[in-house]
Amino acid sequence: MIDLNIIENALYSYLPNDNILIKKLFDSMRYSVDAGGKRVRPQLVIEFCRLCGGDVETALPFACAIEYIHTYSLIHDDLPCMDDDDMRRGKPSNHKVFGEDTALLAGDALQSLAFEVMSLPETVNKAGANKAVKCINTLSRFCGAKGMVGGQVIDLENEKKSASYEEVLECNDLKTGGLIKAACVMGAILGGADDIQLKMAEKYGKCIGLSFQIVDDILDITSTNEELGKPVGSDIENNKSTYVTLFGIEKCRVMVDELTKEAIEALDCFDDDNTELKKFAISLAERKK
Ligand code: IPE
Ligand code: IPE
Ligand code: MG
Ligand code: MG
Ligand code: MG
Repeated sequence: MIDLNIIENALYSYLPNDNILIKKLFDSMRYSVDAGGKRVRPQLVIEFCRLCGGDVETALPFACAIEYIHTYSLIHDDLPCMDDDDMRRGKPSNHKVFGEDTALLAGDALQSLAFEVMSLPETVNKAGANKAVKCINTLSRFCGAKGMVGGQVIDLENEKKSASYEEVLECNDLKTGGLIKAACVMGAILGGADDIQLKMAEKYGKCIGLSFQIVDDILDITSTNEELGKPVGSDIENNKSTYVTLFGIEKCRVMVDELTKEAIEALDCFDDDNTELKKFAISLAERKK
């Protein structure tokens, strides 16, 4: 997989730091983008791009864009009106440090930064206008009302009732699967994938996206605040319906294994060496944070 330092440096390179008047906003944006995230989605953009014949340089701005969107989603997810969590990536949540107003706005600004970075002239020159527009369209679709944001709404609705399997599946496929699918598809677009490969990149993303949220829900019960870097027990406190409340931890682990196997099978249609993405799927299933 890609050296994570390359992703960290690129992420900082686009962050604003030049205006003293809005320093508080910039500090707040930097605070949450700061190290501590696993950078799962940027790694997927880059590895799918490579797998389909593209290079890291082309993929990097898109990898940063999706991490900015993901980071904004986490800032908003922790707000008192949503999951009301005080810790994120091993530090106090953004609103605990900067206040709810600035946290909300830092999330907004990270979202627009993502679209700015994907449409910068140098980004478009490297990727080609056609591929850049396809990526922008992919990320907008998967992060909005029919993607991550829609999933977050269903997640909040599900707090008020005991949701069915279908409702939890839909919620997870949108709120977490959305950005993970977008990452795989964007990478595949940038690398020049054909239609079948694009479908299979999305299938891989769907399977590891679902499995990622199941593991997240298991860790919410079995881990510790220190290891996870965010508060455990958040789902129980918020009365969330999750795979774990529906099926119990043991059955969930079996589901994670099945989804991981399915994700790995989806890689069969790629001719180049797909070992890295196979290993990545397994490492996500076995993750402890
Ligand atoms: C947390 O995502 C939110 C979910 C979708 C479960 P990550 O587990 O990727 O969080 P970071 O980026 O590593 O902090
Ligand atoms: C995923 O669900 C959140 C997003 C899509 C932003 P969670 O609410 O379970 O994520 P964590 O556990 O707070 O990271
Ligand atoms: Mg949430
Ligand atoms: Mg949460
Ligand atoms: Mg969680």
